[in-house]
Amino acid sequence: MTTTVFLDLGKQPITNNFLKIQNPPNEFFYNLKIMFNEETKLVSLVDFVPPEKMFNETYAHRASMSLTMREAYKELSLKIKDRFNPKSILEIGSNDGVFLKNFLDIGPIGVEPCKNLAEITNSMNIKTYANFWNISLSNKVSNDNGKFEFIYSANTISHIQNLEEAISAVDNILTDNGVFVLEDPSLLEVLKNISYDQFYDEHAYVFSVTAINNLLKRTELEIFDIEKLTTHGGSNRIYIKKKKNKLNTSKIVSSTLKFEEDFGIDKLETYQKFAKSVEKSKNDLCSIFQNLKSKNNKIIGYGATYKSSTILNYCGLNSECIEYFVDTTKNKQGKFTPGTHIPIIKPDNYLKNDINFVFLGAWNFKNEIFNKEKKYIDNGGKFITHVPFPQII
Ligand code: TMP
Repeated sequence: MTTTVFLDLGKQPITNNFLKIQNPPNEFFYNLKIMFNEETKLVSLVDFVPPEKMFNETYAHRASMSLTMREAYKELSLKIKDRFNPKSILEIGSNDGVFLKNFLDIGPIGVEPCKNLAEITNSMNIKTYANFWNISLSNKVSNDNGKFEFIYSANTISHIQNLEEAISAVDNILTDNGVFVLEDPSLLEVLKNISYDQFYDEHAYVFSVTAINNLLKRTELEIFDIEKLTTHGGSNRIYIKKKKNKLNTSKIVSSTLKFEEDFGIDKLETYQKFAKSVEKSKNDLCSIFQNLKSKNNKIIGYGATYKSSTILNYCGLNSECIEYFVDTTKNKQGKFTPGTHIPIIKPDNYLKNDINFVFLGAWNFKNEIFNKEKKYIDNGGKFITHVPFPQII
């Protein structure tokens, strides 16, 4: 056996299935178990959820809702123009166009299976294919538009269950001197921060650089640069080229692989140790909630993220523990969190100080949120977070 299940996060709902009624009959749940492949070093879900159940016209996440993300994408587009000056660009998983709108002058092309999002980008003059990314779509896109000098995919390739096909489809449509940038949460950061909330239905995989490197060995592609990002609690932006393209390979590639090896990313024991830390994290977070609730504190949640769904369901935090969530995403407002049925409402301009504690669902936007809620904090308001360990801040 090359794969071993190391973590069981119990019954979980579809994270983007925000509920229209609080207690719907027949809500869909699946078993969230995570496994490690000792041969490829890939970490993946044991049971994949059918993609059509997750990525459809009701998909709620809008990348452009966050100021942090809007600014990050603007900055990235300037960097790409400066470093590579591409004449053609494709984004796989273009969401609401927050990245591609910076390339309107070169006729950007998007791929986005969620029809509600594809409609938005098509209306922004970004030609968007509302389909899942695979070889047959890459053939169609290249027949229609030719090959691409730059392909970008953030938080998408890790969602595609047939990973080898997804990578071959990129290889198929990249020019010989082209660059493919893949950006996804870093497994190393997940292990370091005990941020087990990166495991949910959409994340079929959580990548280490080691696993991507191994995967590419079987293709015509290779990594030539890496950037470490703070987005989503720690991500890797991995720059990939064709092996025959003579672009220089940065030293950061070998140093990152060595760092991951030294951390033990290639060893099953590392994951078994992580699983024990996850259990402790759950027990400690539950104790914090029990203690605060026993003193009748008013606790709400901030940011009904997909990630927080794993925490809430695994730790059994429902509307008795968290009165409601505030979230700026319009199509989450007026709905209820999947599985745990906590109401989600539109935030007031600022948090009011009759709220004693705020659970940071969107912990990856901690700085942005703390800046926005300075008055609440100055007046004694407190936040609860589970990263890197459960605590009140
Ligand atoms: P994400 O981590 O999947 O990008 O989701 C972040 C969610 O948090 C998104 O629904 C918007 C919400 N959010 C707020 O409600 N207020 C904020 O200040 C920020 C930064 C995010």
